[in-house]
Amino acid sequence: MASNYDNSAWFYDNLSRLVYGKALVNAQVYLLQFVKPDSTILIAGGGTGWILEELARIHPTGLKITYIEISAKMISLSKKRWIADNEVVFVNSAVEDVPITTQFDVLITPFLFDNFKEETLQKIFSHLHAQLEAGGLWLNTDFQLSGKWWQNVLLKSMFIFFRLICSIETSVLPDIKRKFEQYNYVIVAEKNFFGDFTSSTAYSK
Ligand SMILES: C[S@@+](CC[C@H](N)C(=O)[O-])C[C@H]1O[C@@H](n2cnc3c(N)ncnc32)[C@H](O)[C@@H]1O
Repeated sequence: MASNYDNSAWFYDNLSRLVYGKALVNAQVYLLQFVKPDSTILIAGGGTGWILEELARIHPTGLKITYIEISAKMISLSKKRWIADNEVVFVNSAVEDVPITTQFDVLITPFLFDNFKEETLQKIFSHLHAQLEAGGLWLNTDFQLSGKWWQNVLLKSMFIFFRLICSIETSVLPDIKRKFEQYNYVIVAEKNFFGDFTSSTAYSK
């Protein structure tokens, strides 16, 4: 069964701020500086949509954004966001089920891949890879284990919680960085947040 964040939509951002403060926001906002004016952007798994407001703050006009979310409740919260004069097309679907029609300049996957087992990660990764222009940017943020004991505890707790509430399929972190290596992506910039527990990476195709 696909994960469904509908059950968590109403408290997701508050819970995130409670546990991580602004770290998960800062981790994603850090990458937005690499978005060029007038870009076409695909955001997969954007949650409640606050990232649209952060993008609008940097580029109030000229962006063409396709916002794909599997959760209907997350989409409905996202539609209320301030987007300035940017164009946003909201798609309520699993990203892997949306047919490829466009090549984007930028892909944004913020805490998406940690939901999946390796097989699903492979499927979704290759589907997204096919939608990025040669030379395009892929901005990925996700958890990583850098050897600190508390990271394992926090990660396990999150998996248990989101398995219960949102039926996420995995209970281990898939090897996300390895996937970018396998597809020969080049790291343009990278920064860790929350004691190295999250990694924000700008990749070039
Ligand atoms: C861990 S949450 C992160 C939300 C947001 N990026 C943030 O950091 O606040 C993962 C999001 O991905 C969405 N999602 C999960 N699987 C998806 C899929 N296959 N296609 C599109 N969205 C998906 C969920 O509904 C959820 O909103």
